[in-house]
Amino acid sequence: MDTKWITCMEEDNKECLENAGEILRSGGLVAFPTETVYGLGGDALNPSSSTKIYAAKGRPSDNPLIVHICKFEDIYRIVADTPESRRMLKKAEKLAHAFWPGPLTMILPKSDEVPYETTGGLSTVAVRMPDHKTALALIEKGGGYIAAPSANTSGRPSPTLAKHVKEDMDGRIDMIVDGGEVGIGIESTIVDLTVEPAQILRPGYITAAMISQIIGKVDMDVTILSDAGGQAPRAPGMKYRHYAPKGELTIVSGKQEDVVKYINQALKKARESGLKTGVIATDETKERYEADLVKTTGSRQDEAAVAKSLYGILRDFDEEGMQVMYSESFPLDGIGQAIMNRLLKAAGHHVIQL
Ligand code: TXA
Ligand code: MG
Repeated sequence: MDTKWITCMEEDNKECLENAGEILRSGGLVAFPTETVYGLGGDALNPSSSTKIYAAKGRPSDNPLIVHICKFEDIYRIVADTPESRRMLKKAEKLAHAFWPGPLTMILPKSDEVPYETTGGLSTVAVRMPDHKTALALIEKGGGYIAAPSANTSGRPSPTLAKHVKEDMDGRIDMIVDGGEVGIGIESTIVDLTVEPAQILRPGYITAAMISQIIGKVDMDVTILSDAGGQAPRAPGMKYRHYAPKGELTIVSGKQEDVVKYINQALKKARESGLKTGVIATDETKERYEADLVKTTGSRQDEAAVAKSLYGILRDFDEEGMQVMYSESFPLDGIGQAIMNRLLKAAGHHVIQL
């Protein structure tokens, strides 16, 4: 298949999306930017579109897709109409009022309109309204309900640039919409509203503290920051070793001086054994590492910059064939918890605590 490429920035006239919308309505696949990462879109209410998404990503079909909408009221068509789900929808209304459009995905009981192909066989549906003008315009032109996982091949870091999508999806999908670099760089927070109290299944830019200010107590899935003795995460997709670089990644945590010293010693050993080495450093320390490739996330003080650069760095390491990699650890406040959740998964929970 020939994958078309169009450029459409947020400020552009949305006519550039006519063709993309037609492709979606006729059952094809279009990758597009959102504020978190690039998504791989298909019509969420068309079972064959969802089946195509799984095939393009090489994704296990028990891993449900998020349905993206462009107006809040569209949620009522895809959520079950029962007294119980109406109670859950009350919370969804409050959260949407506070955070939509934005990087928050909510899990609710699904209506019959949503095919099981889209929900990976589950009777719940994940729904979100992205904070990105191009994405919202495309969702509308595509029929209003767009299933979109991150637009990477299953097991690779999520794309933060259209060229990452091309690396993974060229020849497998109908179109890529290039909207430049995404704003956040880490996938949306997922909150399950079908349990009491609500539970965070995946951390993101919207934190548990922000959510609990709106709806009261929220729990965290215990697997978010530990491997929890092999216990399965509740979001099916979180159990796969996503974001795994091809080489071996270790996180080193401790005082900055000790971390730099430890990593340099370990790098020396690895280089002596003829291995290609890489470091995920920060602006504060990048000059001090001796590795084949040192990549900085930006300043340690700027957690938004760290989130935005992380996946791109992991992709660069793969491209350069790095075999042994070390990363500094990051604090857990704000989006830091989401950063550490993704980094820990990439490292297979391999952490050296100094
Ligand atoms: O920021 C995002 O959410 C991006 C952009 C494109 O919107 N999308 C994204 O989708 O990250 P994906 O498919 O890569 O991750 C969706 C996660 C998976 O871990 C999946 O298992 C979980 O959401 N999920 C989806 N529906 C669910 C449901 N009904 N119950 C529990 N987990 C669900
Ligand atoms: Mg993903």
